Amino acid sequence: MTRAADRDFTGGPSTRAVHAGQVPEPLAGAVTLPIYQTSTYVQEGLGQHKGYDYARTVNPTRQALERNVASLEGGTHAFAFSSGMGAIHTVLTLLSAGDHVVCGENVYGGTHRLMDKVLSRQGLTFTFVDTRDVANVAKAITPKTRMLFVETPTNPLMRLCDLAAIGDLARSQRLLFVVDNTFATPILQRPFEFGADVVLHSTTKYLNGHSDMVGGIVVARSDDLAEQVQFIQKSVGAVPGPFDCWLALRGTKTLPLRMRQHDANGRAVAEYLSCDKRVQKVFYPGLPSHPQHDLAKRQMQGFGGMLSIELGSLERARTVVARTKLFYLAESLGGVESLIGHPSSMTHAAVPAAMREAMGLSDGLVRLSVGIEDVEDLIADLDQALA
Ligand SMILES: Cc1ncc(COP(=O)(O)O)c(C=O)c1O
Repeated sequence: MTRAADRDFTGGPSTRAVHAGQVPEPLAGAVTLPIYQTSTYVQEGLGQHKGYDYARTVNPTRQALERNVASLEGGTHAFAFSSGMGAIHTVLTLLSAGDHVVCGENVYGGTHRLMDKVLSRQGLTFTFVDTRDVANVAKAITPKTRMLFVETPTNPLMRLCDLAAIGDLARSQRLLFVVDNTFATPILQRPFEFGADVVLHSTTKYLNGHSDMVGGIVVARSDDLAEQVQFIQKSVGAVPGPFDCWLALRGTKTLPLRMRQHDANGRAVAEYLSCDKRVQKVFYPGLPSHPQHDLAKRQMQGFGGMLSIELGSLERARTVVARTKLFYLAESLGGVESLIGHPSSMTHAAVPAAMREAMGLSDGLVRLSVGIEDVEDLIADLDQALA
């Protein structure tokens, strides 16, 4: 089980991003942690080994990534997975048949699909609510509720939930409070500070940041919960390979630097688009016109590089996503390169059309993952695409 060591919390976030979980390698002093590409480890005698027995259970490259992210989030333990969905599945596997979960209605489409189409067949029940208002969450709680699961900002409508208010509710009702922090990253938002019990990520996105691997991570801050997650990780076995862990770890070293640039570019692009008559609406928590801008300022240290725009019709959305040149039309987000996507036919196609409509996720909505390129070039690209 990977527990962050005291020394992993030395220094500020940029120092920890570079150093937490890593020491120079003992054989040659390599500054960069090796990729321990092995499935097993030699034992000196029965039960005598260096703490490493089999690589599904433990791998030094994976451990370094886990300690690094635990440190950045301010948790005590972390567990890496072969995808973000693997991480989410593991957290939901903490529950048993008959248990109920209150989940944000505007979560990633794959999360909704896992709950609604897979785990509901195994006896878990889910209620999806608008988590912008904590009263909606409170109202959905039943005697069988065990978990509150939220994303903030949400994907793709950039709605926020009040982490402190939901944290208080979870504590008073003794519910497990799980936050998918993929969009904000620990550089912009640390849900443990507001009462979360579990923080998870698709490391595929900002933590890796280079669009060259798929992975997930679960961070916990109690020994009891960590033991349960580790048991499922080892039993189910959805673990990442050491090379993918190494790529994610290389990514987290520059996470603070990249997030500053994503944030600066995201603000500039959002401001530009909000003054453009060709765009009906801009969804970005950093804009003063965002209805939850004050909450964003309270619980986030920046607003990041994700935003969505309403273009009014499917036809208009289709034209714009086909015309951008720097913004590649692609699924995913959080890489150094800018991406453009159409949630209703791509990331959120799994969400039933009626539910998409009810929550305001229209066919004219386009999502932007603003990368770290020169912002003038990004704005020029959007300008020509909107023409
Ligand atoms: C917020 C969020 N959580 C989880 C996931 C799932 O992660 P993965 O694609 O790594 O399985 C995604 C994927 O887009 C996501 O956007």
